[in-house]
Amino acid sequence: MTDVMKTFENLKYEVAEGICTITVNRPDKLNALNRQTMLELSEAHHQALEDSDVYGIILTGSGTKAFVAGADISEFIGLDVEQGMAMAQAGQDIFKNLEQSSKPVIAAINGFALGGGCELAMACQLRIASDNARFGQPEVNLGLIPGYGGTQRLTRFIGRGKALELLMTAELIGAAEALQLGLVNYVTPPEMLIGKCIEILTKMKSKPPLALAGIIRTVNACYAKDQDGFLKEVEEFGKCFATDDFREGTSAFLEKRKAAFKGK
Ligand code: COA
Repeated sequence: MTDVMKTFENLKYEVAEGICTITVNRPDKLNALNRQTMLELSEAHHQALEDSDVYGIILTGSGTKAFVAGADISEFIGLDVEQGMAMAQAGQDIFKNLEQSSKPVIAAINGFALGGGCELAMACQLRIASDNARFGQPEVNLGLIPGYGGTQRLTRFIGRGKALELLMTAELIGAAEALQLGLVNYVTPPEMLIGKCIEILTKMKSKPPLALAGIIRTVNACYAKDQDGFLKEVEEFGKCFATDDFREGTSAFLEKRKAAFKGK
């Protein structure tokens, strides 16, 4: 537990059995990400990282209609070039922290994941969608382009041609197509969505947390232009040998017993 658990205006924050569920809670606005919600997302993620009772995080949206229907369009009005850039930079920083999270974050996509919502989902480590989910980057309809990493992450996920098609036509795709394109890991009926996320996190619970964090950092290095991913792998592989969990994992294998990892 952390000393003081924060409460949030636009998020629900719940911890049960080691899993922190963060729910964007503006259902009347289809969970659109206004500035306050973005700040709270960052704070809630930080709180979950600090909480030693939490090993994994589920990020979802309130209600049955939307995961997150985008950045809050009402806050765009009156922005100038500098303010637009500042908004994009701040959003990218928050989503980058999620992408680099040392604890796994799974997006449970329970409806529309549009614009900033699709960008938020793509920043998570895994994505599970309910079969009513719809994905898209429709910013072009507003005379805009994505600003929270969408042009980059969507292209990595689904390739240049398909990404350009979605970005330039503003067409939405359903969960089945998102699965086929590799944008999501699984599709479930709505009532099984959170259960599927818990099932996957439970598999990770028995794994050594330091190695999981190393995997996240190293896979992300694959896409970081300022890093050599193979070199990063050499470093991270080496670091594992200094951990108690490495000694426990290898001893348990040789002694034919189940490893008990401590995250040290
Ligand atoms: N920002 C601000 N408000 C939003 C929003 C967003 N991104 N997305 C939805 N809302 C609000 C609507 O304005 C509406 O508010 P109101 O009831 O006070 O008028 C409420 O959420 C419900 O949305 P509504 O459009 O009435 O629902 P719908 O079922 O007819 O349509 C969508 C659903 C998702 C297709 C439609 O809301 C939409 O296109 N949203 C914007 C998506 C987008 O462009 N996202 C990228 C933003 S950069």
